[in-house]
Amino acid sequence: MLSTEENQLLTQVGPGTPMGELFRRFWLPAMLSEELPGPDCTPVRLRLLGEDLVAFKDTQGRTAIVDGFCPHRSAPLFFGRNEESGLRCVYHGWKFDVTGACVDMPNCVEGENFRSKVRLTAYPTFDGGGLIWVYMGPPAQRPPHPGYEFLDKPATHRYAFKYLLECNYAQSLENEFDTGHSAFLHSRLEGAQGARLDNRWVAAGMRQNRVVDYSKMQIVDTEFGSALIRRWDQQTENGNEVYSIGTPFWMPCFSAAGALTAPGTFPLNIKVPVDDQHTAFFRYKWSDEPLTEQMLWEMKHGGYEFPAVIPGTFTPKENKSNDYLIDRNRQRFYNYTGISNTPVQDFAVTENQRGPVTDRTRETLVSSDKYLIHVRRRLLAAARLLMQGKEPAEPWHPDAYRQRMRRIQVPPGTAPEEAARRLLDPESSAESGNGMWAGMLAGAPAPLAGSSSQG
Ligand code: FES
Ligand SMILES: [Fe+2]
Repeated sequence: MLSTEENQLLTQVGPGTPMGELFRRFWLPAMLSEELPGPDCTPVRLRLLGEDLVAFKDTQGRTAIVDGFCPHRSAPLFFGRNEESGLRCVYHGWKFDVTGACVDMPNCVEGENFRSKVRLTAYPTFDGGGLIWVYMGPPAQRPPHPGYEFLDKPATHRYAFKYLLECNYAQSLENEFDTGHSAFLHSRLEGAQGARLDNRWVAAGMRQNRVVDYSKMQIVDTEFGSALIRRWDQQTENGNEVYSIGTPFWMPCFSAAGALTAPGTFPLNIKVPVDDQHTAFFRYKWSDEPLTEQMLWEMKHGGYEFPAVIPGTFTPKENKSNDYLIDRNRQRFYNYTGISNTPVQDFAVTENQRGPVTDRTRETLVSSDKYLIHVRRRLLAAARLLMQGKEPAEPWHPDAYRQRMRRIQVPPGTAPEEAARRLLDPESSAESGNGMWAGMLAGAPAPLAGSSSQG
């Protein structure tokens, strides 16, 4: 539970708000690269952190993300003419380049001299991993590019899509670290179609995982955010104990909690605030190997890992306006929710927690909510520190963001703190790799987080 004031601190992301300023210290994905297909492309309307923006590529192919309104009389630059290395406002013809400089002011006698005094807000961008990234903070605090491994992967090794969600980012983000919900929300009924009615609340194959017991797990803070360390029940043949690190929270809004991912691919779920009531959810899969044609087809058209959208939009076909096409017959006999698609099951709950900005004064949290409480506390603490003038350290540790989820063996009796230290040391010997990660997340040989978040 949070106080009203804390809830506002967590959820408000506009310019000048503490959380909004914290997010503005990080490079964030703004859009899919394919949304700006090439030089002089059609300008794209964009809203991020409560700011209305316009994105375009100029004649040289340079990407611009700029204020959505002209500094002359606030006409919408979305209607602008993207021509000859700049975007021209259609109201009176002022023209701006990708840096925001006014390069033409053709409607007044003082234009030639006065235009150098006029600037359009323009944010730095870079293109990486099939995403266009933006930095919306103070120029002096601009950090290096993040160190995610997927930024180095060629296009053949990755797939990304975007969904617009009708809720505050924190609702969607907390769902990533709501480690126990898969055993209910994403479960099928025992025996699927043939389930008996008295079994209808039983999650097939997941009963043993319904209880999330944090006494067997340790939440650790890292240079990139937080992670979950777990001691596995089984030992190795030589009697060593096995520890793993997983379910990473990369500050401020990145997660790899999703279990629903093709073999050999790494999942990544990114929840970028559009404004207080909307979120851009970038769903990302990448691999050390090229994705196979079959994998790509499944991702693009299968409607399983990536829910289908209304053509020409980023809105899922199963959405809030149609109650996510819940099928009560399916719910009675087949799965827990009656909603067919796993990510959509998440959307259905997170978009409707008493509304788009949930009232956290009305929650009743229990021990199984420990990780999501940790994540929100970490965000709140960082926002408060920033208000006091202490800049966040995470954006300045891009290499920490490279760390893979891993597993180590330690001699029996090793203190959990020592196991955690070794897991966080990328130099220590450990198993790692996407096979292991995907295996753990898929629940084989043992789920990483007791009942890991899926979606
Ligand atoms: S409002 Fe854009 S040129 Fe006048
Ligand atoms: Fe989920």
